[in-house]
Amino acid sequence: MSTKKRTAILISGRGSNMKSLVEASRTADYPAEIVLVASNRPEAPGIGWAEKQGLRTAVVDHKQFPSREAFESRLQTVLDEHGVELVALAGFMRLMTPAFVERWRDRMINIHPSLLPSFKGLHTHERALAAGVKIAGCTVHFVRAEMDEGPIIAQAAVPVFPTDSPDTLAARVLEAEHRVYPAALRLVAAGGIQFGVQKVTINQHSGGTDTLFSPAI
Ligand code: GRF
Repeated sequence: MSTKKRTAILISGRGSNMKSLVEASRTADYPAEIVLVASNRPEAPGIGWAEKQGLRTAVVDHKQFPSREAFESRLQTVLDEHGVELVALAGFMRLMTPAFVERWRDRMINIHPSLLPSFKGLHTHERALAAGVKIAGCTVHFVRAEMDEGPIIAQAAVPVFPTDSPDTLAARVLEAEHRVYPAALRLVAAGGIQFGVQKVTINQHSGGTDTLFSPAI
């Protein structure tokens, strides 16, 4: 029997991070198996890609539910039906209730396109440029009830150039996202993490840690 962690990826849109996780998971020694791609938006382009790959997919359209709790209850059922052990949010644009987050505590991860704790929330690249930062990047973290909070697993940094627009910066950060998210999921699925009160520590023997905080500068 496979010892790979049964992992669901939740998306709302394009799904390029989902693709990077799916592609990584095809490596024989990758410790996570993508058993489900689910979207809260029926029109999400990523869901079509996942279907074409022969992956199990589900749409749980939040607009069809009277409350956040009702939506999450259905989502939980779908996750249970697929025996999901780990959840990776990849551009999933729904805030989750504290109860749902708690249920998946330390088993749900997210990628955010900034070097947290800077620039939580939306429009990160616009705000990074407005602030004049010289280094931007992305963060993979465990999900907690507060938006874009939670123990940091991995970060990657990229330079910000004077000529950058939000779009050129987003594209550079996205490339880093596609490197760092598969590395972080690998680590989490392999159990290479210890939890402190606020922080995680990466076990020495986990290997490949250079990808987890890789400066691309
Ligand atoms: C990424 O920048 C991710 O960091 C953020 O939303 C974007 C999703 O892009 N949470 P994609 O759908 O993975 O292409």
